[in-house]
Amino acid sequence: MIELEGVSVTYGAGPTLVRAAREVSFRIPAGDALGLVGESGSGKSTVLRAVAGLIPHAEGRVVINGRELSNRRPRESRKIIQMVFQDPYGSLHPNHTVDQTLSAPIAIHRLGNAESRIMAALTEVGLGREHRYRYPHQLSGGQRQRVAIARALILEPKVLLLDEPTSALDVSVQAEILNLLTRLRRDHGLTMLMVSHDLAVIAHICDRIGVMHSGRILEMTTAAALAEGRVTDPYSQQLLRANQGFDASGVVIDVAA
Ligand SMILES: Nc1ncnc2c1ncn2[C@@H]1O[C@H](COP(=O)(O)OP(=O)(O)OP(=O)(O)O)[C@@H](O)[C@H]1O
Ligand SMILES: [Mg+2]
Repeated sequence: MIELEGVSVTYGAGPTLVRAAREVSFRIPAGDALGLVGESGSGKSTVLRAVAGLIPHAEGRVVINGRELSNRRPRESRKIIQMVFQDPYGSLHPNHTVDQTLSAPIAIHRLGNAESRIMAALTEVGLGREHRYRYPHQLSGGQRQRVAIARALILEPKVLLLDEPTSALDVSVQAEILNLLTRLRRDHGLTMLMVSHDLAVIAHICDRIGVMHSGRILEMTTAAALAEGRVTDPYSQQLLRANQGFDASGVVIDVAA
């Protein structure tokens, strides 16, 4: 579903040049979830933005569902890939109600059945009618993130890109959103690419995990190997030590939600 081959991204030029992604390659088969972990500035969001087609100057190849990304993607192919960001407060328009936020993509893509799509998306993320005409400031942080997820789902995408989707939330709310994402992935067969600096969060959702440092993927591993401390790269070992609280129990938070 997602294939990256030698993707490199640089920002700026001359003395301010930053190599944010260096020769990044990986594949995610349909229905799988890949996580990227790494410290701040290691290039995680850059890779996600390149996959979303938001970095026109990226080098290398990005293939989504068999089609190479180009700057002029038809509207239809943009629909299959949607993104959820860290801060739902920043990503939702403050003067738009939930209804307006969910209506916009339906109008842009000229889809019918707006009413039933909106109600279905709200139900899907565990929100009710009572939330439909609220503004972002009238919702809790977790509810705001549910709205952002509903907005991503409304176009029935095949791929969800998640950039630190829970790091702005309290731990208990974080678990609720992770459970929601796990269920959505299962029910819709979604392919996911998620980035976080938190190993436990990544391991909750993802089968395979890439450890990033200075724009490179140092090591491709699995949630199970990480939980058991089986990593080979010295930087990955250091990251594992920095995530002291991470253990196998972090992997299996109750998925009943
Ligand atoms: N628009 C930009 N212009 C210039 N440099 C940028 C830009 N965006 C990111 N960078 C730089 O590229 C590098 C990678 O940034 P990126 O946002 O991908 O890191 P990250 O791993 O997502 O970090 P964080 O965990 O803090 O979100 C950093 O050194 C950052 O300062
Ligand atoms: Mg980031």
